[in-house]
Formats: sequence, C-alpha cells, structure tokens
Amino acid sequence: MLAELACFEQKCRTRFPIGEAIYNCPNCGALLEVVFSEDSINVEAAKRTWRERRTCNQMLDQSGVWRYRELLPFDGHHHQVVSLREGNTPLLDAPRAARYGGLDRLTFKHQGFNPTGSFKDNGMTCGVTQAIRLGRKRVACVSTGNTSASMAAYASAAGLDSIVFIPHGNISYGKLAQALDYGARTLQVEANFDQILALVRILADRLGIYLLNSINPFRIEGQKSIIFEMMDQRDWNPPDWIVLPGGNLGNTSAFGKALRELRDFGFIRKMPRLAVIQAEGAAPFFDFVRTGGAFRSVPEPRTLATAIRIGDPVSWPKALHEVTVSCGVVERVTEQEIADAKAIVGQCGIGCEPASAATLAGIRKLTVSGIMSESDDVIAVLTGNVLKDPDYIYRYHTGQLKDPDGNAIAPQYGNQPVVVPNDPEAIARMLGE
Ligand code: F0G
Repeated sequence: MLAELACFEQKCRTRFPIGEAIYNCPNCGALLEVVFSEDSINVEAAKRTWRERRTCNQMLDQSGVWRYRELLPFDGHHHQVVSLREGNTPLLDAPRAARYGGLDRLTFKHQGFNPTGSFKDNGMTCGVTQAIRLGRKRVACVSTGNTSASMAAYASAAGLDSIVFIPHGNISYGKLAQALDYGARTLQVEANFDQILALVRILADRLGIYLLNSINPFRIEGQKSIIFEMMDQRDWNPPDWIVLPGGNLGNTSAFGKALRELRDFGFIRKMPRLAVIQAEGAAPFFDFVRTGGAFRSVPEPRTLATAIRIGDPVSWPKALHEVTVSCGVVERVTEQEIADAKAIVGQCGIGCEPASAATLAGIRKLTVSGIMSESDDVIAVLTGNVLKDPDYIYRYHTGQLKDPDGNAIAPQYGNQPVVVPNDPEAIARMLGE
C-alpha cells in the first residue's frame, strides 16, 4: 500500500514523503504517523494469505510482524528487512490470574516470548529496516532497558552501529546485560528517561544518527502487528478489553492505530476497549485523563517497575486519541499491587517482568470498581519476559523488596527458598514423608 507520513495534529495534518527522516512535524512540532492512501483491501483474501504464511519457511512469512506486511509501509523494500523472527507470541489462558483479577476468564498475550524478550522487537524490526532504507549507519535510543536491548540486537543483526542511552542505576541488569552482549555502545547518563530523551534528540540531529525511540513512527507501525496477530489468533473475534501497561505510551498508540485500521478495512466489526495501567509514582497520563486540564508531567517518576518509570510520555496525544476512540480507561496501581500481581502471573507458570504485571493489578481494580465485568472477555498484554528483572523477583519472594520510599513490600504470595543440610533423612522428613 502507498504510504505517507502525516502530522498527527488534526489542525495541521501536513503530509511528508515516507522516506523523510523526521520524527516530528516540521511545521507545528506535533507527532507524526503513517497514513495509507488506499481505503480498501480484500479482507478475506488477506486473512487467508496471512494464515497460509504461517506454514511457510520464508523469513518474511515466519516473522509475526512481516507476515502482515500488507498493513505496513514498506512496499518495495521487503528485501531490506532485518528480522529475528519476532512476533509469533502465544495467547495463554490463565485461570488463576483470572480469579485474582475478578474475571471468569483471562488470556495473556505474552510478548516476552520475543527474540530479546519484550514487545519492543515487533517495532524494532520495522525501525531498523527503515534505518537501512534511509541508508543510515548509526542508530540510537534512550531506554528504560527493553528498547535498548532490542535495538542493540537488531542493529547488530543489520550490521549497524548502535548507541544506547540509559538512566544510570535505574535499569534492570537483565536488560543492561543484553545491550552489552549485543554490542551496543552503552552510555549510562546521570539523568532520568525524560531528561535523556531531550539530550538524545539534540545529539541525533547533530550527529546524523537515526533515532529509534517510539516517537519514530515506524516503531509504532511494527507494534501494530501485536494486535494483528492477536486478532488472527482469535479468528478475528475481538475481545471486550485489551489491557496494557503505559509508560511512554507508544504501545497504546500502536494498539489503537492497529484496531482502527482493522475496523476501517473491515477485518473486525467491534472495537475492543483499551485499558492502560500506570504505576502510581509515574502516572501522568492517569492524572491527565482523570482530572482534565493541561497535561502535566511528573518531574521525578518513581516505581520499581523501571520499564515504565517515565514522567513525560511523548506519545500522550496519540494515546489520548486511542483511549477516547476505544471508549477506554486509564488506571493506576501501587507498588504492592504490582508485586503481588506479578507473583500471581508467576503462579500461573507464565511469569513476566514487573511493568507487565501492572495489567493484572489494574484488572483487579477495574473489576472491583465495576468498570470491568466478571464475564468480560479480556486480553492482557504481558510486555516483558520474567527473566528481565530477576533481582526484583528474588527480593519479593525473600521479603527484601522495598518501594522507592523505602517501605517494605509484603511478600503476600512469597515463596522463600529453604537451605537444607546434605542429608536425605532430614530432607525427606521436611518434605513430609
Ligand atoms: N512494558 C515494558 C516491559 C516496557 O519495557 C515498556 C517500555 C512498557 C511496558 C511501556 O510501553 O512506553 O510504549 O507505554 N519501555 C521503554 C523502553 C520505554 O525504553 O524500553 P510504552
């Protein structure tokens, strides 16, 4: 499909060629989005093609992103695709989590099954492919960890140099280790995510480095495939709700755009409601939607769910649009609620990183308040793998986890490891022989 970039601001809507390396509208400064010039697609043929591609061994077809390439803006550039066979993430039933959340049934779409362990891979395959298309040699991002891990991997796979900027001391070791191992030049800056993003934007312009944060509209395009694949896996039956954690709000923007496109082209008839969950200490979007008025950032965001420790989310105008269009809601949850919900996801044999567990904590609140009903059909998106932040898990289960104010988090679903002597008698007695 023919595609262009368009200013997201409704009063401007200026269009730009798809091959222009811009992240904001040069006229008004607003965010950019990809728009397609065609308004129809053969829906039944596309559904059949996408299903058939699942059994094909070609790289493009095996990717859970590029399989849906008819709805991505890369026509004529498929030979430049950089893929690590991302996507293909499962839908998992989680009865225990459903009970905890106050639902009859709950399904997780687990993006932690991706090559670098988070949903960022869905977007990064497109972002790095766009860098190749533009002939760029260096890419950069600021990250709370997952974007940097993903960018480092895809850049190295493509033979590009990558530079990651991360907040010093506020990213999990699992993610930092990935960036190092995948070969990114890793700069730990003494500032928070929002401050570093401002810094990186200046440097990217000055040094001609291609920026791969979620302000990059091609990342958003790739992340749409999470929804395409989800609907394909459900035979195009949308759920009542899709629940996701909100940080920089790129994923919320991508999910909403994907749902609108699927509805407008005729793949789905009903629009699921988006429920965006933020951590209490980093909840500017929640505050904004709840109280109205001007958007106010949180100067010093705080949460142990470091992935969503963001006080000034760049994509809030897009996210607001998508939450509004989908009749969605925004909720916030405490550190204790995130930690307990995370343990419950673990008890389902599924596991996830702390930010992802905000979804289940949010569902529990939304059913208690009656916004979500017990019988609703709900899919929660687990954004990151359980092994991203083992330190958090160990501390929770051993009663050592403290919130950012230094208050202890109670291990209500804790599972302490037990030290035993090297003695079969003693161990058998202990295990209740
Ligand atoms: N969950 C995880 C595991 C994340 O890594 C992120 C964002 C989010 C949720 C929030 O998604 O920003 O689209 O609202 N991580 C970014 C990073 C910011 O740098 O890795 P969002």
